[in-house]
Amino acid sequence: MQITLNSPLDMHLHLRDEAMLQIVAPLSAHSFAAAIVMPNLVPPVTSIEAVKAYKERIITAIGEEHFTPLMTLFFQDNYDYDFLKEAKKQITAIKLYPAGITTNSEGGVSGIDSESLKMTLDAMSRLDIPLLIHGESNGFVMDREKEFVPVYEELAQNFPDLTIIMEHITTKASVEALNRHKNLYATITLHHLLITLDDVAGGMLEPHLFCKPIAKRPEDREALLDAALQAHPKVMFGSDSAPHPQHAKESCGCAAGVFTAPIALPVLAELFASHNKLENLQAFVSDNAQKIYNFTPEKKNVVLEDKPSLVPAIYDTVVPMYAGKEIGWSITSVS
Ligand code: NCD
Ligand code: ZN
Repeated sequence: MQITLNSPLDMHLHLRDEAMLQIVAPLSAHSFAAAIVMPNLVPPVTSIEAVKAYKERIITAIGEEHFTPLMTLFFQDNYDYDFLKEAKKQITAIKLYPAGITTNSEGGVSGIDSESLKMTLDAMSRLDIPLLIHGESNGFVMDREKEFVPVYEELAQNFPDLTIIMEHITTKASVEALNRHKNLYATITLHHLLITLDDVAGGMLEPHLFCKPIAKRPEDREALLDAALQAHPKVMFGSDSAPHPQHAKESCGCAAGVFTAPIALPVLAELFASHNKLENLQAFVSDNAQKIYNFTPEKKNVVLEDKPSLVPAIYDTVVPMYAGKEIGWSITSVS
């Protein structure tokens, strides 16, 4: 069995900086045509100069690969219309983190509601800049995403012209919310289609599957899988591939993030094929995102085949999901 994907897109990606950027950027750039690059560096990307400089570092790190980094700003509630009008020339979206909710999000927002974020959200709405949200409350870890759904709904209602993307959704509640508001969309990761909390902590603790939001219950995974396999027009693939050095994962105080970028496409192909839904993979990994973001990527054809391949145990300092294991599919060519 074989499939050719046209211009696969990763709509939520962490490329980091410095040494880590050099390791991970070429891996995404090899098999994806473009990706939405997250701004949670230290310090976060909050100025136009920082966006430009980061984009330059990414372009340098990917070398010869044909790949477009779609840049984002780290949301701040003091971005006004004039600033955003200038910024729009350099960015594709703005990412909002609740303060302290995940890796490098200390500078995020503490009260998320329409009233307090009005100036910036009005401007984004007028300028047609999508708002990407890490949607978690600071409640009990398994309930954080569900508790955040009313926040999404309040924003969606009060800013009907703002495109709001619920990033890396992990629950049935989020899938249901998508259908209630025309301006809500979502990204889904690879790992949340495959694992539940049991895989993280049901047996021996598995640090390489620990991420935010934490993987949830079987019925949640089913709801995500359903949406992805039918290529629900409001969902897109966003890996949330979030590399951390091995010592930061295999340690006391394990950093949150699963590194999936190099295995994402073959494992997605294997998953869709095993459900006889391979014909919907193109929409999930590219076409839906092109429509939602109103964007046409450069052409890149990735051929995948059901030929087993071995996942490396480590990429320099980073351990990928399925490290050292055999997966059922591989990339046979990229052109
Ligand atoms: C991400 C990271 O490490 O930057 N971690 C994660 O667990 N997904 C941040 C994020 O997307 O939450
Ligand atoms: Zn992320």
